[in-house]
Amino acid sequence: MLLSQAGDSEKGLKRTLGAGNLVALGIGAIIGAGLFVRTAAAAGEHAGPAVTLSFIIAAIGCAFAGLCYAEFASIIPIAGSAYTYAYATMGELVAWIIGWALVLEYALGAATVSISWSEYLNNLCGKSIPYEWCHSPFEQALVAGVMHHGIMNVPALIILALLTLLLIRGTQESAIVNTIIVIVKVAIVLVFIAIGWQFINPANHHPYIIPADAAPAVKPDGSMYSYLPWVNHGFGGILKGAAIVFFAFIGFDAVSTAAQEAKNPKKDMPMGILGSLVICTILYILFSYVLTGVAPFTDFVKSGKEASVSYAIQTYMHGYGWLSTLITFAILAGFSSVILVMLMGQSRVFYTMSNDGLLPRIFSDLHPKFRTPYKSNLILFVFVGLFAAFVPGSVAGDLTSIGTLLAFVLVCVGVIILRKRDPNLVRPFKTPLVPLVPILGIIVCMSMILSLWGYTLTVALIWMVVGLFIYFGYSKHNSKLKQ
Ligand code: ALA
Repeated sequence: MLLSQAGDSEKGLKRTLGAGNLVALGIGAIIGAGLFVRTAAAAGEHAGPAVTLSFIIAAIGCAFAGLCYAEFASIIPIAGSAYTYAYATMGELVAWIIGWALVLEYALGAATVSISWSEYLNNLCGKSIPYEWCHSPFEQALVAGVMHHGIMNVPALIILALLTLLLIRGTQESAIVNTIIVIVKVAIVLVFIAIGWQFINPANHHPYIIPADAAPAVKPDGSMYSYLPWVNHGFGGILKGAAIVFFAFIGFDAVSTAAQEAKNPKKDMPMGILGSLVICTILYILFSYVLTGVAPFTDFVKSGKEASVSYAIQTYMHGYGWLSTLITFAILAGFSSVILVMLMGQSRVFYTMSNDGLLPRIFSDLHPKFRTPYKSNLILFVFVGLFAAFVPGSVAGDLTSIGTLLAFVLVCVGVIILRKRDPNLVRPFKTPLVPLVPILGIIVCMSMILSLWGYTLTVALIWMVVGLFIYFGYSKHNSKLKQ
């Protein structure tokens, strides 16, 4: 039934995306705040130059999950991604749980990155946007001796509104804009790697892994940052760094939400998912190698973490001020495509959940002309906009990671279940070494979830409980399966 529903291209979403579009979609969602903001944070506070190894560990976890996603995406090319895979293998309730977790990934992911977008825009404009209008009410700061309180994050709302309109206009149009942005941001990353390579100071890469007795660094507020705790040096630091830079990989799975709009999903889906993952991993390792070679990692504790790339260029790469401005533009463009793909992914998951009767019909109503789920896009704008305007970015960031990791774990479990339950199903792409690969995926992703233990996990649990109330109060009675 799922497959015949996906095959109905008369009434459903339009099939407009080729393999190239899908790889670009993946890169569009992947390279963003994770690379440009979190790399320096992970290097400065936990892993040092060995942040390259942190990237490799996070990439291995994503690769296990990515291989499982690719198998499912080739068998069930439907817009719902992990939600649909769970629906087909583990039933409606587990599917609901995963769909609800995906809201954390996509909707909160989009909100988080739109808040970072607002910060960078303000940096580019020389901090000319009044503090009140680019921060949430929960934030305050001393600016020129006067205490300012945030009211509402307007730039974050504006970028969300613009991208929502683009998404409503059409998937193909959105894919074209995305591809242009991807070319710009990958080009800038490559330019930084090529030019920065000449400025690598080998001394900055020694020692490569932070020793336990590393001298404490002085933070901007004058307090000391100690490398003594086990997660701040050595192998422990590399692991903690992996959990932090994991955010940089979030998004490759968003490719799978476009499965119903792919021209040849069986072949192109695995290519889109795994291709974008491989390209980004290579870029990340090179980028972080150059960044920690240009500036000593302790600088990323001392100076602002967010503008770390511009900082490194301005401080250590004399004569390349233009590159620093270009990088800021690329970051703004890069964040836009991350938001775009996240918003698109979320509306496609809702589209499928609504088709299955678990959400009201409004979420699957298509625009008569553009054939995009425009009502869902608009509702989503309000929901994501509320977070972006009124919640600090730090709160949303880790929740995004937890939602994603939970989806990864369940997709890995799903592959094992479907192999047992239906071993002869035609699988255009097969995950190698089942059950080893899915089990390793579960172990790596679960350990990253546990490393985020604490406040974030509590909020995520509350979110999941709210979801269960909605499921038992509404969805269970309206579901297609029930009817
Ligand atoms: N991977 C995306 C980013 O780094 C979410 O911004």
